[in-house]
Amino acid sequence: MKAIVVTDQAAGTAGMTLVERPEPQAAINDVVVQVHASGFTGDETTWPSTWTDRVGRDRTPSIPGHELAGVVTALGYGTTGLSIGQRVFGLTDWYRDGTLAEYVAVEARNLTPLPGDVEFRVGAALVMPGLTAWQALFEHGRLHAGQSVLVHGAAGVVGSMASQLAREAGAYVIGTGRAGGRQTALNFGAQEFVDLDNDSLEDVGEVDLVFDVLGGDIGKRSAGRIRAGGTLVSIVGPPEARPADGLAVDFVVESDRAQLSEIMQRVRDRRLRTNIGSVSTLDDAVAAFNPTERRKGKTIICVRS
Ligand SMILES: NC(=O)c1ccc[n+]([C@@H]2O[C@H](COP(=O)([O-])OP(=O)(O)OC[C@H]3O[C@@H](n4cnc5c(N)ncnc54)[C@H](OP(=O)(O)O)[C@@H]3O)[C@@H](O)[C@H]2O)c1
Repeated sequence: MKAIVVTDQAAGTAGMTLVERPEPQAAINDVVVQVHASGFTGDETTWPSTWTDRVGRDRTPSIPGHELAGVVTALGYGTTGLSIGQRVFGLTDWYRDGTLAEYVAVEARNLTPLPGDVEFRVGAALVMPGLTAWQALFEHGRLHAGQSVLVHGAAGVVGSMASQLAREAGAYVIGTGRAGGRQTALNFGAQEFVDLDNDSLEDVGEVDLVFDVLGGDIGKRSAGRIRAGGTLVSIVGPPEARPADGLAVDFVVESDRAQLSEIMQRVRDRRLRTNIGSVSTLDDAVAAFNPTERRKGKTIICVRS
């Protein structure tokens, strides 16, 4: 099968190459999925799991990409709950070969049925940003109606999903980012926008939750914006400052079938939309992940048309 592999950690995404690889076999409780659409997170080449297995052994050449939508083509020993020919989408194990390939072996529990009226590219584009935003807001942030949330990077892939979900849950959403992201952030549900290069973060009133996708100085200064009992949730490493009377949580997104179903329901009801920036083929994927200019939105690789 055709697949993108990485072998050189120092090379980053520039080290990606399109090669022929053996098709994966389904292990116990796995399915093999014929990948139709795949997603990749920009900094995967910095994750330890891209390079080693769980006991730290080199696993290169490894296939990156952990977001997918496709069709089940084989079941492993003991696999239940999914059927050959079924449309599925989900997040794959960080430590196993990923989805920038024609086929991938995935544990069945990491997959959710993809409704027949939803395009593969939409399914693939929802998985990582949808689950990350959901877990940040509702699991770790315990956000509920009537509360306020400061969403950093609100024009970005994860931030645009978080703004929509928070707004739909009845929260007041203040988005942040660069000046050029203002209209996008407002279009995705932010009710106010803070231009981090020109406005003062300190002028923002107190909020119940900060969702930080930027980190650094912005993350640190955000802790001071949180009212008593509130939470700072980060997806870019342990927060450097915690709220005076609140929690600071850092997490890595996890598979969750029930949450993906909730997210998908909102897409079908037109309460939620994806932020797809560009769509490429597997043959063009290396170029798509190494653009000559900054690309906005999620890059989706359509492996099968
Ligand atoms: N822990 C987890 O489970 C998890 C899951 C998913 C993603 N992540 C991480 O979350 C981060 C965000 O991912 P994403 O896909 O949403 O990225 P993205 O689409 O690039 O979004 C980031 C947004 O923030 C803006 N921004 C970046 N730096 C800024 C700065 N210094 N000041 C103001 N605005 C700034 C960007 O604007 P421009 O486009 O103009 O630069 C963009 O709108 C990445 O580091 C990713 O690896 C973590």
